[in-house]
Amino acid sequence: MAVKVTNLSNSTVTRCFHLLCGVIFTLGVLLTLYIAFIKSTQNSNCMPLPSYSRHQQNPGHKVARKPLVLIWFWPEDLKFDWDDCKKHLNIDGCRLTDDRSLYLKAEEVIVFHDAIKGDLSNLPQLPRPGFQRWIWLNLQPPANTRRIEGADNLFNLSLNFRKDADIQVRWELTYNKILGGAPSLPKKEHVVCYIKGDKVADNSTGHSYYKELAKHIDIKVFGGSSTAWLPNNYFDAVSSCKFQLAFEDLIYRDYITEKLNGPLAVGTVPVVLGPPRINYEDFVPGDSLVHVNDFPNAKSLAAFLKRLDADDTAYRRYFQWRQYFSAHHHPVTDNHKYLKAICTACDFSVRKRDYRVIRYLHKWYFR
Ligand SMILES: *[C@@H]1O[C@H](CO)[C@@H](O)[C@H](O)[C@H]1NC(C)=O
Ligand SMILES: *[C@@H]1O[C@H](CO)[C@@H](O)[C@H](O)[C@H]1NC(C)=O
Repeated sequence: MAVKVTNLSNSTVTRCFHLLCGVIFTLGVLLTLYIAFIKSTQNSNCMPLPSYSRHQQNPGHKVARKPLVLIWFWPEDLKFDWDDCKKHLNIDGCRLTDDRSLYLKAEEVIVFHDAIKGDLSNLPQLPRPGFQRWIWLNLQPPANTRRIEGADNLFNLSLNFRKDADIQVRWELTYNKILGGAPSLPKKEHVVCYIKGDKVADNSTGHSYYKELAKHIDIKVFGGSSTAWLPNNYFDAVSSCKFQLAFEDLIYRDYITEKLNGPLAVGTVPVVLGPPRINYEDFVPGDSLVHVNDFPNAKSLAAFLKRLDADDTAYRRYFQWRQYFSAHHHPVTDNHKYLKAICTACDFSVRKRDYRVIRYLHKWYFR
């Protein structure tokens, strides 16, 4: 009997204990949820806008207006109109100027690398305002870039084609919001076309490859000795070809220029020579281009292009990406060579205001 009673009272204690635990646990959960709720409402009230945090550090410097971006040197003396960012690229966030007397007011100062004197004597000499950032502008791969001792610890942001630059300059594809239909292609007059830039050396990798390829397939050449080509009809010229040789002057990672963008924008298949295919595929769909490295030699590439010329279904597969993405015309006039870079910096200036220093510019760029 005694044993039974003990058992009974034991199980009652156990039951009460479980009940108590349950109540404490439930209260605990409710309290935790309540605290979390209070915290979250406080946070959303107090959260500072990250893009303006810099101005809290510099309370004297208020930016109610558009940020002022000073172009210290016009790159290669190529000037454009102040409304060109808006007109050509729909970028309107900053106020651009080349008036050096506004130096102390400028949020950003764009410095074109190639124009810097070796002794830095043509850079701003006045002390730099605490809020100001200097932007290093260089669109040339290291092989074409002069080393300037003293350029370390000078700049805050890099403006370059490389993926690891602070501000990347590139003609990008955009997503189509609405899926495009079957792409219509412009009328084609030529199979393969090539434009020889005036600065391209005859012995460059690209031009040598062109000469080799021309032994095996007809190539329509624009520019160079032919006068039938002008920048204004660049897009007409490129769109009249089934394939356009998009050979970069220098082979360097991420160095993929508007030579790729042009054909993509007008419905022509680019035949690329530059960094490896995988690097192109960082930026554009792999089935939008033909890469010379996919072929053992120019002869087999020529044979492949001839086969595609004869097989319309296979050729059209190179345009399937156009359902999902769009490429856009880039400005082709000479004075717009740096438009994209400068306008991209302008846009960046509005969106990202964080503090930064590039300590080892050379180590970063030439490594
Ligand atoms: C091309 O020729 C120039 C001189 O004519 C020479 O300095 C350069 O090294 C050559 N480049 C190549 C890739 O052979
Ligand atoms: C910009 O870089 C300079 C030089 O390293 C540095 O002194 C300055 O504090 C930096 N400014 C900003 C806003 O990042």
